[in-house]
Amino acid sequence: MQKKPVKRIGILTAGGDSPGLNAAIRAVGKAAIGEYGWEMIGFRDGFLGLALNRWVRFDKTRLAGILTVGGTVLGTSRDKPHRMEINGRVRDMTGAIATNYRRLGLDALVCIGGGGTQKNALRLVEKGLHIITLPKTIDNDVALTDATIGFDTALGIATEAIDRLHSTAHSHHRIVIAEIMGHRAGWLTLGAGIAGGADVILIPEIPYDVEKVAAAVRRRSRNGTNFSIVAIAEGAMSKQDAVAFAAVEARRKLAKTELEREHVKAELAALEARHDGNTLRLAKQLEQLTHLEARVTILGYVQRGGTPSVADRLLATRLGTACAGFIQEGVFGVMVAARGDGVKAVPIEEVAGKLKTVPADHQWIEAARRVGTCLGD
Ligand code: F6P
Repeated sequence: MQKKPVKRIGILTAGGDSPGLNAAIRAVGKAAIGEYGWEMIGFRDGFLGLALNRWVRFDKTRLAGILTVGGTVLGTSRDKPHRMEINGRVRDMTGAIATNYRRLGLDALVCIGGGGTQKNALRLVEKGLHIITLPKTIDNDVALTDATIGFDTALGIATEAIDRLHSTAHSHHRIVIAEIMGHRAGWLTLGAGIAGGADVILIPEIPYDVEKVAAAVRRRSRNGTNFSIVAIAEGAMSKQDAVAFAAVEARRKLAKTELEREHVKAELAALEARHDGNTLRLAKQLEQLTHLEARVTILGYVQRGGTPSVADRLLATRLGTACAGFIQEGVFGVMVAARGDGVKAVPIEEVAGKLKTVPADHQWIEAARRVGTCLGD
């Protein structure tokens, strides 16, 4: 059967921004417009723009000069197609999105995003739309791809921060704790911690014992080094907190009635609220246990800002141009994953809802331990 030639594609960026999004938009656009002669329109602020029909047309001029620019020229949001707040009311906009897609005469829609975006994209695949996704997030936690757009840049920023924290920690004989992004996966903290030579690295995958962390700091003091750098992921937690979270999670799975579900939700919210001050609490605990001063630096959004690294520009350009190629071949319902030096089209349904965490036997973990880093366990 003859394939219908693609004429018009849409593109959007969703979820938290990350460096390299514009490089990806540019790559898809240059191949789509320049190589294949298609039209490309970009939706404003993620799925929200698609639901509200807010878009701009890309041409060569609009694509020029954006390769090195951080953030996303399209804007982004965490809005979900099936639960979107419109004029103060939460509504399911999947139907409206499908209607807009068809009215605009789109032949394909490229969604650039992290784990949440993959789930949202799957909802649109199930509505019969021709969706193709690209993986981006500084957390590097999207399943079935070697890398995500933005991770390398954030890794560089977090590593440089740890480098700089060394001199002030050393001068004041302090413990300096750097809190690094990553609620559920520790790639960024582990990578930057190793590259920056942190003495302690705490990640969500390995619940920590504060006594062990303090013992590592005291050992350094005994050996004549009166300062320590602790790299902690925002989602890292103590062994006790991990047990409490696991118990609530188990109750959540067993909850049958609406009342039980509401109760578990409230318990979880209370635990999460308590966890919010975790890094500051750790600093106080370490001061008490080591008699050294401790200071906290929360790296925050600095990690997501600014110009993308060389590796992210390359990754975004590889994935973006390959994405246009897949559309040309009529391959839809897939995420364009990075695999070694190549790319692979992975069904979105195999990616959605999965999280790529750091495996216990990962070589980074082994390497960290072998250079004497305390991982808190
Ligand atoms: O998705 C990446 C991420 O940077 C996480 O590491 C972080 O917890 C989260 O986004 C915070 O983003 P926002 O405050 O924009 O929702």
